[in-house]
Amino acid sequence: MFVCKECGYKSIQKFGQCPYCAGWNTSVEEKSEALANSRKAERISDIKCGSGKRITSGIANVDAVLGGGIVEGSIVLIAGAPGIGKSTLLLQAASGMEKVLYVSGEESPGQICMRSERIKSDSEDACAFAGRVQLLAAQNFDEVACEIERLKPDVVIIDSIQSIRSRPGQGLAASVGEMKEVAVRIVEIAKNSNISFILSGHITKEGILQGPKVIEHMVDVVMYMEESSDHAHRILYSTKNRFGNTREFALFCMTVGGLEVVPDASKYFLSGRCDIPGSVVVSACGGSTVFLAEVQALINTTSFQYPRRQVTGLELNRVYLVIAILERFTDIKLSSCDVYMNVAGGIKINEPAADLATAAAIASASTKRKVGKDTAFAGEIGLGGEIRNVSRLGERIDKAASFGFGKIIVPASGAARKNKIKVIEVKNIREALSAALVAPSQSPL
Ligand code: TYD
Ligand code: MG
Repeated sequence: MFVCKECGYKSIQKFGQCPYCAGWNTSVEEKSEALANSRKAERISDIKCGSGKRITSGIANVDAVLGGGIVEGSIVLIAGAPGIGKSTLLLQAASGMEKVLYVSGEESPGQICMRSERIKSDSEDACAFAGRVQLLAAQNFDEVACEIERLKPDVVIIDSIQSIRSRPGQGLAASVGEMKEVAVRIVEIAKNSNISFILSGHITKEGILQGPKVIEHMVDVVMYMEESSDHAHRILYSTKNRFGNTREFALFCMTVGGLEVVPDASKYFLSGRCDIPGSVVVSACGGSTVFLAEVQALINTTSFQYPRRQVTGLELNRVYLVIAILERFTDIKLSSCDVYMNVAGGIKINEPAADLATAAAIASASTKRKVGKDTAFAGEIGLGGEIRNVSRLGERIDKAASFGFGKIIVPASGAARKNKIKVIEVKNIREALSAALVAPSQSPL
């Protein structure tokens, strides 16, 4: 700033004559304190590298989704519909952590105690948990900040971001502006004092826009919790992770004693599978987990002007691609058919390795020819109808073999080893379908 030494007038530009007192050559430069103490850029080579230390959440599957635990000073957002089980998961995670402050803006300490009693754990754990976790029921972020300052925890859990206010008593609670304000203050604390935060956020009916989506860019990890199609299970996956990949997922079962980890997701995804045309099994990969899931297709003659393509659990654009490839390289014609696709169990598979299973399901539904019940698929399809290699093919084959599948149809990559499963290597879509589809089903029903 340039200040007039006669009258104190301030300007960001140097002035010859003071516009206020009209004195000549009275301006002197003054460095503001904030600027004098401002941070300076450093060479990357001079910066002390972060320790990369990760704090375990106490639940192995959640750690895997996080990329190996909670990074020090990071912020994790868990978003989901009200009643999905976010508070339950957070309390269970808190019970496995060392120095943790659990802030609830929605429930009273008594209610949280009741919940903690429901959560299944052996008595020793329950006691240790009760003695270790600091509980704060507050809605004012100033109070939360004071407690963080006093307790200096490693992890602060805030349930939920929408219930905490930065300007109590002013305007409506949980406005987008206020939520952003609270998030900015959290980011400041997290980055300055290396405290990790886990925030829960409700996805409101009005849309994702009103909800926690607006702070996704400020946090390090965004996880979503969704219900399975049978309503009894919960799938946790991340859509953004600055410290890990976003393909990991964790499967839980909601029981009377809280969330229980489902150790083998494939078993659950394949339960209830029917031996009908349109149903095939994919050997898929979600981060570090290889799992089997059922891909289903239903094909009807359309009664709309434009045929419908409705897809759940797969990437819509990849399904469009597979449909185009089938039309171009096989005799299957779908331009006057509605195509409905679903992955049973509510899991989302967004990898090209599911292309082959998608094509087989559509071909099977369209020709009403079943795919053998003991056949699994893994393979990407190229625009020339060629079957392309996929990552971790060996593990995918092993997974199908361990579940008693008799054959697996895969790209010709030479990866086939001596195995108890018959590995059928195919070069193009026609070869794949002729190996996959069995005789037409007898019953027209
Ligand atoms: P909650 O964690 O409160 O959901 P959110 O915080 O996402 O709104 O979960 C509430 C639901 O979970 C409620 O319908 C009851 C059920 N639940 C159980 O089935 N078992 C349990 O042990 C607990 C604590 C909750
Ligand atoms: Mg809750």
